[in-house]
Amino acid sequence: MVNTEKFIQKSIAEIKAAAGDDKVVMALSGGVDSSVCAALAARAIGDNLFPIYIDTGLMRKGETERIRTLFGNIHLQIVDAGDEFLVSLKGIDDPEAKRMAIGERFIRVFEREAKKVGAKCLLQGTIYPDRIESEGGIKSHHNVGGMPLHMEFTKVIEPIRDLYKDEVREVAGALGLPKEIQHRMPFPGPGLAVRIIGEITKEKVDIIREANWIVEDELVEKYRPWQCFAALIGLGTGVKGDNRIHGWIVAIRAVNSRDGMTADPLDIPFEHLVRIGSRITADIPRVARVVYDITAKPPATIEYE
Ligand code: XMP
Repeated sequence: MVNTEKFIQKSIAEIKAAAGDDKVVMALSGGVDSSVCAALAARAIGDNLFPIYIDTGLMRKGETERIRTLFGNIHLQIVDAGDEFLVSLKGIDDPEAKRMAIGERFIRVFEREAKKVGAKCLLQGTIYPDRIESEGGIKSHHNVGGMPLHMEFTKVIEPIRDLYKDEVREVAGALGLPKEIQHRMPFPGPGLAVRIIGEITKEKVDIIREANWIVEDELVEKYRPWQCFAALIGLGTGVKGDNRIHGWIVAIRAVNSRDGMTADPLDIPFEHLVRIGSRITADIPRVARVVYDITAKPPATIEYE
């Protein structure tokens, strides 16, 4: 980062110039990227900014309530689109197709909401690594390559498109955003969908949401990893009580990283891992097996799809 203050002034001026007198909608997820964008845009265009939180049904446990509390002081539109997303994802098991379906649904919901307020511009919290990975053909981040070609927005503004995550956090600090936002773990735009291998169903989402919550509860405070979560990676055999069951396999992923481009698995004491595994299988009866992912990035990615 060259100069945080300079960046802030420059991007406020750029947003002002790009938006003119138009109304601008943006997705505010409550993560550091979108929160920084919202703070910059609010300074640039004030009441012409219309932040929208879309509850995709693929968010973490308690997320919508958290957003309500954190942003209770600004006019934030909360849209419950969980059912719509499930319908859009039905029958799709290819990772790229899933991302595209999610990206498309996102934009459609936005367009609908934007129409209601008469907004022509879309503001997005795309950061530099999102662009690199999408342009490099690694995968389509939902807010980049997953964007439908035919959008009704006349303009897309991406104020932090050249920043790495650690730089975004610096800007968040300089803007005075709450520490909880500044240091929050990254959470992918497609949400829990990229933590479920294969087709998305409500049952799988409910299971992985609960498992994610347990993993975060066990690891975030204690180790402060770059990222930690649970993923649903398949079905296997297990025993519960006297019965052999067909149960879900949950992978725990916890990594340290500087910018998300490379990552190393977190060194968690074995007894703690075993405790987390027991807690997950006890609290979520449909889970039969828990594994710890010990792969670095590369060759693995951080997320599962
Ligand atoms: P991967 O899985 O590519 O993740 O090693 C690198 C970082 O990017 C996040 N990620 C995403 N963020 N849309 C996002 O907004 C996406 O489609 C997406 N996929 C991965 C991931 O959580 C990690 O921090």
